[in-house]
Amino acid sequence: MNTPSTRTRDGAGTRTRDGAGTDWWREAVIYQIYPRSFADSDGDGIGDLPGVVARLDDLVALGVDAIWLSPFYPSPQADAGYDVADYRDVDPIFGRLADADRLIAEAHDRGLRVIVDLVPNHTSSAHPWFVEALGAEPGSPARDRYIFRDGRGPNGERPPNSWRSVFGGPAWTKVDGPDGTPGQWYLHLFDAGQPDLNWDSTQVRDEFVAILRFWLDRGVDGFRVDVAHGLVKQADLADWHYPEETTSGDHVDQPRPPMWDQDGVHEIYRQWRSVLDEYPGQQILVAEAWVQPAERLAAYVRPDEMHQAFNFEYLEAAWTSEAQRTVIERSLAATDKVGAPTTWVLSNHDVLRHATRLALPIGAARPRGIGANDPQPDTALGLRRARAATLMMLALPGSAYLYQGEELGLPEHTTLPDEVRQDPTWRRTDHTERGRDGCRVPIPWEADSPSYGFGPTDASWLPQPPVWAEYALDRQRDVPGSTYELYRTALRLRRELGLGAGRLRWLESPEDVLACCVDEVTVVTNFGAEPVSLPPGTEPLIASGPLNGSGRVPTDVTVWARQRVR
Ligand code: NOJ
Repeated sequence: MNTPSTRTRDGAGTRTRDGAGTDWWREAVIYQIYPRSFADSDGDGIGDLPGVVARLDDLVALGVDAIWLSPFYPSPQADAGYDVADYRDVDPIFGRLADADRLIAEAHDRGLRVIVDLVPNHTSSAHPWFVEALGAEPGSPARDRYIFRDGRGPNGERPPNSWRSVFGGPAWTKVDGPDGTPGQWYLHLFDAGQPDLNWDSTQVRDEFVAILRFWLDRGVDGFRVDVAHGLVKQADLADWHYPEETTSGDHVDQPRPPMWDQDGVHEIYRQWRSVLDEYPGQQILVAEAWVQPAERLAAYVRPDEMHQAFNFEYLEAAWTSEAQRTVIERSLAATDKVGAPTTWVLSNHDVLRHATRLALPIGAARPRGIGANDPQPDTALGLRRARAATLMMLALPGSAYLYQGEELGLPEHTTLPDEVRQDPTWRRTDHTERGRDGCRVPIPWEADSPSYGFGPTDASWLPQPPVWAEYALDRQRDVPGSTYELYRTALRLRRELGLGAGRLRWLESPEDVLACCVDEVTVVTNFGAEPVSLPPGTEPLIASGPLNGSGRVPTDVTVWARQRVR
């Protein structure tokens, strides 16, 4: 099918840290497309695959190496497609299977690699396996593909254990017989429409190998593995006493929860890696694993397992020089030990966009959504810091992930009307946590077109705020100083200077300043109140914001500099 050998562009993929081979993923910049909010070709208000194809040239112009698509498979959309009913097709709202084939081919023609999302922790409750399980007896092979248990209490009226759904409420739902006789409970670490699979089942294991092959045969370049730390549960499903304010198991210094990061997951990824290695080219596995500390995360990217894991510890790090330096050092050290590239990520479809997050009080816990009645973050401050954070990130050795719209400096939509919210978090927390809709609003391409160029009509599955016009791509393209041009220039320089394959060395700097060299490039971020000078003998190459009159670096600005040419 579409082999990567047709690629023509220079840059990532042409060399490794050692200057040989084609380990493209070690330094790639990978752009996340959230299909329902990227580009709508048919005007129904939901983005689709033909919409993505029509915008591929824009991504080439931006200068990324690969795209990762969030799920586009048939699904009741209980969790925006992370509830998959058929792993081998395309949901009609996004197009047809032929559109996926065309997307892969068209992307490859332009030198872009394509990563698809794989959701192995759970299926949709509409998946034929789950439908069959509901109609089958307790203890039957059909039920054994999921995690069904009897309830506690004299009539089994209480859930089998204390586990909670990540989206709020219990992680168990009871299924009674058609005549009302009390039945068993099934486990869902997310929504009730997302029953967890039983990874002790050989059928489940075989099925996912077949799904991997299905998409590899269609030419994809890799898989982003959803909830990679959740597939295997502690065998006794022991009760868990939740530390305050966490359901995701990502807290350091806590005992490991029985539903996350169990050692048994690694055997699964070793098997998958051996499947990928049968294919020519370099297809990759990327772990979405909210696991800390960095050393435990690094276990997912040992040489015979996955290629990359999202570095969420970096995303979560506070906006201080100390926190940033610590997380960068720790991340590089942990992945270096296992020979994997470090990844860097600031935004995705599950968290507040970093242009908003960085405006919150420094060190505050990351809120799960912001509503119209909450204090509204300072957009200008957030954008200034976001630009500085991005420019620092794009200098770092390894692979970087961008989330659609961040190249426009898009903030979170923090005033969405509550009645349009679709994230199950809002419903499942009894309307106490607003959830993730604010980072999923369809993105603006053209300031003066209907739906800001998202589609041919005004329709948009979540309403776009009026401020979207000023962020639209056509208001920023070729405009010096715009956030889009900052990203484009940084990506070009990163590629030309080989920063993704570079070596990082820290420089002496004042307490509130982060300064390092990545190969020949000096990178300075000023977190302090006073402007700072660049190291002697250097001159700026690119800056995230204007320098002050004497060429010094102001607060919340990052500069890349190089030795002055005499
Ligand atoms: C992680 C995905 O990124 C998120 O959007 C989804 O809700 C959960 N996994 C469950 O699949």
